[in-house]
Amino acid sequence: MKQVNIYTGSGLSSSRPHVATDTDRLSVQTLDSQLSVSAEDNLLDALIGSGHEVEYQCRGGYCGACRTKVISGTVEYDEPPLAHLDSDEILPCCCKVKEPLKLSVSLREINETQQGNLFE
Ligand code: FES
Repeated sequence: MKQVNIYTGSGLSSSRPHVATDTDRLSVQTLDSQLSVSAEDNLLDALIGSGHEVEYQCRGGYCGACRTKVISGTVEYDEPPLAHLDSDEILPCCCKVKEPLKLSVSLREINETQQGNLFE
């Protein structure tokens, strides 16, 4: 299991920088990695920034493209999202992490064409 603690940004949803301390960081475990976020962080940005494969479009809770399965934990929303969600799904683009989460999401795979020499 890979430990990822690289995301410390404030995300796109906040105009003020958030200075996180160890006491307000929450664990987000994925299928092959683990990261920590604060309640102020944008979960979609944290997942993408740590190399996870998450589709997205609107970043506002409308399209449902970022719909992600939750294995355990819950999130909250400032506004109820318009996209339909099953009881085991969240929208990382607009949710707030309030407790440790386990998500059914994986790291992006780098295929051979992405790894190849760009100058060949
Ligand atoms: S990106 Fe559209 S609902 Fe999350």
